Amino acid sequence: MKTDELSIAPLDPARAALIEKNGGRILPLEPIGAEVHGINLTSDTPPPPDVVEALELEMANRGFVVFKNEKPLDVDDFLRASCLWGGKALHSTHGVHPATPGGNQHIFRLSNDRRIGIPGVGPQWHNDGSFIPATFSHSGYHIIRPAENGGGTYFAHQGAAYDALPEDRQEFWCRLSSVNSASGVVHPIVHVHPISGRRCIWLHLGMTGGVVEKLKDADGYRLLDADELTQLCHEYNDILNAGLEDGYAIGYEYQENDCLFIDNLTVAHRASPQAHLPVDEQGLRIMHRSTVRGVQDLSPGFDLPQYLNIDGPSPFGEGVWKGGGIGFRWEEGIPMQN
Ligand SMILES: [Fe+2]
Repeated sequence: MKTDELSIAPLDPARAALIEKNGGRILPLEPIGAEVHGINLTSDTPPPPDVVEALELEMANRGFVVFKNEKPLDVDDFLRASCLWGGKALHSTHGVHPATPGGNQHIFRLSNDRRIGIPGVGPQWHNDGSFIPATFSHSGYHIIRPAENGGGTYFAHQGAAYDALPEDRQEFWCRLSSVNSASGVVHPIVHVHPISGRRCIWLHLGMTGGVVEKLKDADGYRLLDADELTQLCHEYNDILNAGLEDGYAIGYEYQENDCLFIDNLTVAHRASPQAHLPVDEQGLRIMHRSTVRGVQDLSPGFDLPQYLNIDGPSPFGEGVWKGGGIGFRWEEGIPMQN
């Protein structure tokens, strides 16, 4: 597909008007995302349901919204706001760093100082919760302390990225399913987004143990071999990175009190390399992440099961089949950590 056909839906004027009527303001970020002013997340009174729905639809279409808060949020404000979206409950599977306020199990505390938070997380493109069938519907990123010299998060719109693929790769990718290296959960590499209805691509570049191809003109399946999977991961990485030039990805730099929520089925993300630079170079960075329960399983097609035993022998013969840790390493020397 040609670049000029790529589309990120503009903000819906009726939804923008509704938010304004409720004392808020939503503005597009370019080329994806939106920022919201004037919606108070620190009060016990949540935004009304129609405003919540409007914001959730914008997240589905544009990938994320960032609340530009005038006052600092506390942990409870952030977690309560996380539960406005998707499955409307927290689903926390991560480790808890000793410096986490109150030892709260729902906060995944990240930092470039290992005494203050968990360092080095998420340097390659991924979606959160790729190791469970119903991957998180939304994730929240609350910046506690932005680093003086920057270090944000990259987000790429996976619907627009699908559209940017050449047609023959679209056809091929639609027949692929990934197998998570940690759990053996199987997800389609192309899925239809439950809200936007767009075809979106999906692949974890730091936790994939194998990729299964449904044969094109015959019954059955095969595994991609190491060369094919290396190529696939590079193509995936390239097509998401290309969004930074071609208008469907953004490098977002956090400002004080920012609280950002993504639709985890619309955008992939990765930490910027600067986010992991040492404190004396970059300044101290602290972020709290929350994860929201998924609404439905992201199930593979072609009669594939939701789980395969990635730690046992391959059920599909030869090819990459690698359980545990970061799974298949598609490029030597790059940081990979979950
Ligand atoms: Fe992540």
